[in-house]
Amino acid sequence: MEQKKWNECVAYQIYPKSFKDSNGDGIGDLRGIIEKLDYLKDLGINLLWISPIYQSPFVDQGYDISDYYKIAEEFGTMEDFDELLAQAKKRGIDVIMDLVINHTSDQHEWFQKALKDPEGKYGNYYHFCKGKDGNPPTNYRSYFGGSTWEPVEGTDLYYLHAFAKEQPDLNWENPEVLAELYKMINWWLDKGIAGFRIDAIINIKKHPDLPNYAADGDDGLVKYTTMVENTEGIGELLRDLKENTFDKHGAFTVGEVFNVDEEGLKEFIGPDGYFTTMFDFTGEILSKGKHGWYDAPKWDFTKWRDKVFEAHEKIRGIGFYANVIENHDEPRGANRYLPKSLQNSKGIKMLAAVYLFLPGLPFIYQGQEIGMQNFTAKSIDEYDDINTIDEYKKAIAAGLTKEQALEVCNTHSRDNARTPMQWNESENAGFTTGKPWLKVNDNYKTINVESEKANPESVLNFYKEAIILHKEDNYKELFAKGELRACFTEYKEIFAYERVLGDKKVLIAANFGESAVEVEKDLGEGIILLTNENIDNAEKNKLRLSPGAIRVILEKE
Ligand code: GLC
Ligand code: CA
Repeated sequence: MEQKKWNECVAYQIYPKSFKDSNGDGIGDLRGIIEKLDYLKDLGINLLWISPIYQSPFVDQGYDISDYYKIAEEFGTMEDFDELLAQAKKRGIDVIMDLVINHTSDQHEWFQKALKDPEGKYGNYYHFCKGKDGNPPTNYRSYFGGSTWEPVEGTDLYYLHAFAKEQPDLNWENPEVLAELYKMINWWLDKGIAGFRIDAIINIKKHPDLPNYAADGDDGLVKYTTMVENTEGIGELLRDLKENTFDKHGAFTVGEVFNVDEEGLKEFIGPDGYFTTMFDFTGEILSKGKHGWYDAPKWDFTKWRDKVFEAHEKIRGIGFYANVIENHDEPRGANRYLPKSLQNSKGIKMLAAVYLFLPGLPFIYQGQEIGMQNFTAKSIDEYDDINTIDEYKKAIAAGLTKEQALEVCNTHSRDNARTPMQWNESENAGFTTGKPWLKVNDNYKTINVESEKANPESVLNFYKEAIILHKEDNYKELFAKGELRACFTEYKEIFAYERVLGDKKVLIAANFGESAVEVEKDLGEGIILLTNENIDNAEKNKLRLSPGAIRVILEKE
């Protein structure tokens, strides 16, 4: 079988709990996804990542797995999954699962056995360590706040969890653990899935000495990532993983990878890389505060643009990125990347085109294609996300008022992307006939699939057009592997680049600023392939960009 050219694809991420509920319990499910496969096909995507659907207590929304071989009851059955897979294939859509193997749920059988006998076989599946002078073994802070160490009742032991205490980290130095994980991965690949999005994988390697590091906050703790960044040897683990699983099936993999230096890139995604690709998290990294969401820096468009170009420059000749504007861990792209005055359909279309035509494989997150936006909670109780609750507490501890802390959450919360998908104008946006597990965004009457389908000027129809162009025979190779040339970077508000392959050259130019800009460029006989504004014939050879304008132009010398 010929390997799919992954960078000629367009991928879509489903967050199953919020996509489509088929049985009225307020929770999205697999049958709901099956119902909407025609919608996805029509959108033009050909690769589908489904966030975790395994059995889970949902402390971290499925990223805490209690049985890798079972489908969560809330989502359906294995038969539903098999049907989903077959129906997707029929429509030319490959499915990838989420692979969460840094940790399990504390409800996983292995961990339950480990707790009963930390010195026994299963104790060695995880990281149990003795405390030091009544304190935890080290001073690491978990991603979701507090120590990474949880005491085991009735013993002097603690277990390690990089995320929530209900997500104990697996011991990757134990060959028995690896054998179990490989078996499970191969089992899913044998079922016919195309591969995996690989969760939090950078955390699997622990420093053999588990040293303390200098505290970086008032809590006396240090970010867990400080240990990760000072630890060598993850490569051996990832190579072994790949050789024993993905390689055998020609699987597609995309890593959730942070903290890789330039040297490391070659190993991660080169032709022999551990993964097919990894996400480019430039936008996300620039939004992070030193201590949390509350001290996040002000959004700096120019910096983001330049860093995106830099990121692509660094992997030139090595591999390609998976490009993202949104995912289930981030607020909505419209609100992060656009100035207030452009948080409308014009600006959202511009944002779409700018990232869709970068080299690499674009991932669209559910609802992004209709321009869904952040919601505004009136109280912290409206939030479900474990991370948001922690960041709220952090903000309060840093001296913010309740109102300010809530505003911080409204800007950054992961729940912004997790509100139910907006299908139509009916109650609960057509997501469920019951009570949705998370509140539907108030704007669903104007932003929803059905009304956008009917409107030729909608964000949804723009996305469709852009995807058609991306996949068109004439252009797909150019967009997949054409050279990237940053243009007009002296204009602070302009995001522009050329994609070049052989004698074909396409210019993508956008104005993220709040006033019109005329870029000095004679377009001559250039042909506009895609735009979000009406352009006067007399103006066609000029590159005059109103605020929020995007143009994709086939250049003619
Ligand atoms: C990844 C997931 C996130 C989850 C975490 C722990 O970052 O994307 O949603 O909370 O891993 O599994
Ligand atoms: Ca349901």
